[in-house]
Amino acid sequence: MDLGLKGKSVLVTAASKGLGKASALEFAREGAIVTIASRNLEELNKTAADIETATGQKVAVVQMDVTSERDIAKAVETAVEAGGGLDVLVTNAGGPPGGTFDDFDDQAWIKAFELNLLSAIRLIRASLPHMRARGGGRIVTITSTSIKQPIPGLILSNTIRAGVNALTKSLATELAKDGILVNTVAPGRIATDRVAELDQQKAAAKGIPVEDVQAEMIAQIPLGRYGSPDEFGRAVAFLGSFANTYITGQALLVDGGMVKSL
Ligand SMILES: NC(=O)c1ccc[n+]([C@@H]2O[C@H](COP(=O)([O-])OP(=O)(O)OC[C@H]3O[C@@H](n4cnc5c(N)ncnc54)[C@H](OP(=O)(O)O)[C@@H]3O)[C@@H](O)[C@H]2O)c1
Repeated sequence: MDLGLKGKSVLVTAASKGLGKASALEFAREGAIVTIASRNLEELNKTAADIETATGQKVAVVQMDVTSERDIAKAVETAVEAGGGLDVLVTNAGGPPGGTFDDFDDQAWIKAFELNLLSAIRLIRASLPHMRARGGGRIVTITSTSIKQPIPGLILSNTIRAGVNALTKSLATELAKDGILVNTVAPGRIATDRVAELDQQKAAAKGIPVEDVQAEMIAQIPLGRYGSPDEFGRAVAFLGSFANTYITGQALLVDGGMVKSL
């Protein structure tokens, strides 16, 4: 299947590693002009080199923090310059800290809002004029299976990502007339640094080996393993592609069957 991404300009934030990097790699494989953004320039340059080696596609980088409105403007400008416009936006960010209700004060809630919801709002706002100028576009937000089933011990993420999902669904209706399709891709348990870190924290809290934590998790996944970043990236690339012409406002869970709700 031709995903219709050849020569399209794609911006992926929080893409120096993990799910963002895997998504950027898939777009580059499809011949898109990809811009990757995150805070650590050294990591970004390494990732750009990895993607260029794997795909032969030149990748633009921009050092930015998604919690800064100015940095968001800079990231969108960089992608527009690199690709002669902007066709696809993938909004991604780091995850808020784990913990339960009693652990967090207003400041922690505000930070989580800024990191995961306000960043998506601002990225989309900055990108829309460019997509409208192109006569359409694709937006993919990266959330979590917690949009369907809250995850114990991740109350900040559970709450804020529900907002990102509602934003995604609302925008699908509002932006359809502009030819802009908006979807979210929700990872379950994809083997990245973040997941390894969460498993370590859980093991330390329970005083058990990390392998036992992983075995408990895997027992809940019908496919019997964690997903790989490239399995996730392929789902993002399809929903963010121009082969996707009739799917909008959807939440696609990439979770090996973990969430059991209909
Ligand atoms: N992996 C999973 O199975 C899973 C499941 C559910 C939800 N999620 C969520 O999906 C997102 C990506 O997860 P991941 O597993 O890929 O995490 P990861 O491996 O830890 O990667 C996080 C990425 O985010 C970037 N980043 C963090 N804070 C940033 C900021 N303020 N501004 C710009 N970039 C920032 C990091 O780069 P720099 O350090 O260079 O900034 C890095 O590239 C997270 O929000 C995570 O909570 C993941």
